[in-house]
Amino acid sequence: MSIVVKQNKKTITSIKKQKNKELITMITAYDALFAKLFDSQVDIILVGDSLHMSFNGDSDTISASLEEMIYHTKAVCSGAKNALVVFDMPFGTYLDKKSALKNAVKVYKQTKASAVKIEGGENKAHIVKNLTNNGIAVMGHIGLLPQSVRAEGGYKIKGRNKKEIKQLLKDAKAIEKAGAFAIVVEGVISDVAKEIANSLTIPVIGIGAGSEVDGQVLVWSDAFGFFEEFTPKFVKKYMNGAELIKESLSNYIDDVKQKKFPSEEHTYN
Ligand code: KIV
Repeated sequence: MSIVVKQNKKTITSIKKQKNKELITMITAYDALFAKLFDSQVDIILVGDSLHMSFNGDSDTISASLEEMIYHTKAVCSGAKNALVVFDMPFGTYLDKKSALKNAVKVYKQTKASAVKIEGGENKAHIVKNLTNNGIAVMGHIGLLPQSVRAEGGYKIKGRNKKEIKQLLKDAKAIEKAGAFAIVVEGVISDVAKEIANSLTIPVIGIGAGSEVDGQVLVWSDAFGFFEEFTPKFVKKYMNGAELIKESLSNYIDDVKQKKFPSEEHTYN
């Protein structure tokens, strides 16, 4: 196993240049501790509103607030020195051009995030355009939109029929035209995701969108097996974090009960 250590600071420009040259890696983080662990290897760290599912125990991402996301992004930025940090705009913070700009400016002023991420396609292109016109870098997010899960009545894979495929391509084009530097494509049939990636000049980062795109993103607690509620088909568990924690905790408890901890080694005399 090789550990890839990246030395260079990632920028919007360097990420865009990776298209068709080097696959992009992206993972979520919500605090400085894990941002620091991920920083030297990944290209992008996303402070996702998945925070509210993985760490707040909610059933969806809707409840995340701008202030909470800013708090977590500040922490991530203090741990991430090389990776590009992207701030996930929470539900309700980009309903119209004016409020989106006001909230994104607040994010830029209060954190060191390099970009914000917005869920939505053609219907959100005017908002993306207004942000990019005002000096804010935007990552789009199309396909399955976690913030629309209540309105859509569940997590629905997209691109299964001609109408959906046509709309996805329109969405991708509109977000690119609006000035986004990259797009997350989530929960989309792999051939359609491939077609989207091939039709754009900006990188397409997939999650549940197959391998024929420009990069991949995973939520860290899914990738490392800490989130036990459910495992979507697209998640590969690179370790069983929950089991390791439970086993280690059990060892600690046994040691305390049996007075094996603290031993001489961990005691001031
Ligand atoms: O909130 C999040 O972590 C995300 C990823 C699933 C892309 O938006």
